[in-house]
Amino acid sequence: MIQTEDMEFAPRVISPEISQEDSDIEVSLRPQTLHEYIGQDKVKENLAVYIEAAKRRGEPLDHVLLYGPPGLGKTTLSGIIAHELGVNFRVTTGPAIEKPGDLVSLLTSLADNDVLFIDEIHRLSRAVEEILYPALEDRVIDIIIGKGPSAQSVRIDLKPFTLIGATTRAGQLSAPLRDRFGVIHRLELYTKDQLTDIVRRSAMILGIPCETDGAMEIAGRARGTPRIANRLLKRVRDFADVMGNGQITQEIASIALSRLEIDALGLDSLDRRMLEMIIKGYSGGPVGLETLASAIGEESVTLEDVCEPFLMQLGFLGRTPRGRVATKLAYEHLGYSLPEQSSGSDEGQMTF
Ligand code: ADE
Repeated sequence: MIQTEDMEFAPRVISPEISQEDSDIEVSLRPQTLHEYIGQDKVKENLAVYIEAAKRRGEPLDHVLLYGPPGLGKTTLSGIIAHELGVNFRVTTGPAIEKPGDLVSLLTSLADNDVLFIDEIHRLSRAVEEILYPALEDRVIDIIIGKGPSAQSVRIDLKPFTLIGATTRAGQLSAPLRDRFGVIHRLELYTKDQLTDIVRRSAMILGIPCETDGAMEIAGRARGTPRIANRLLKRVRDFADVMGNGQITQEIASIALSRLEIDALGLDSLDRRMLEMIIKGYSGGPVGLETLASAIGEESVTLEDVCEPFLMQLGFLGRTPRGRVATKLAYEHLGYSLPEQSSGSDEGQMTF
């Protein structure tokens, strides 16, 4: 029996952050080529040209920065780039590179034209970042050997390589680091049609019978994010196995997603709590992000990285210089009537 009463305390089914279960299934579902990768068409088209050009010249691809909300496929796309280039794909994260020496050993172990992928690159320490600058620009690293007056600076030449950096927060990258990427792309939330294709593809790979209407129902509630769509597919499959004959239909998907407290537009309980706090606690806003986060007992980064991109895309949330506001659409969706003089309807000041 699946328990849904304690959802407030359970991990969010629609959090785009990666879990161990996701990581296992993501690996099996991960497309290997640009052709198999669904969505992000402009990014794919440009990358295809850069990859082909680099291959023809026998040079490494220029350094690439991918940014955008979590769960959109930055790691997947980076693996595809390495695969299409026919080189090794080395994966690490900003916080895992603790000391400059960690980065030095990574860089010196790369083979010609390899791809080094650094996730959460905005979390690199300043000392590590400083090693990276000459490595990216001139393919050299300068290391200090010894201490005191006998210390010597030694320059090491690196093999040609491509760094792919990924981040949810491009604004937090230092300007010198950002400037060293020749290719910068923002990944966008996926459309419902693209997510439907992704759900159908994943269902086929996992051997889950899934009707198109069922895939569309899941896609429509996956807040533009493939990682969430694939996770919902697995949860809906459980309902289909227990309540039906294993086939994912629109009806089963709809029942399952309602039981998971995901509404028709894909909002979960945290999205709703955030909007309700703005509407009921702060008369529609504006309210500062930190104030809002502590009022609902959530981290402000979660609200900013996870809830806001989606709520803003739906047109439910606006940002003004004085804080967040709930829009008329948010009031309507949650079934509240607009106050007479609502700052929530003051859309002229919002920046989307
Ligand atoms: N699985 C997760 N993301 C995908 C994508 N963009 N294309 C195909 N399959 C995926």
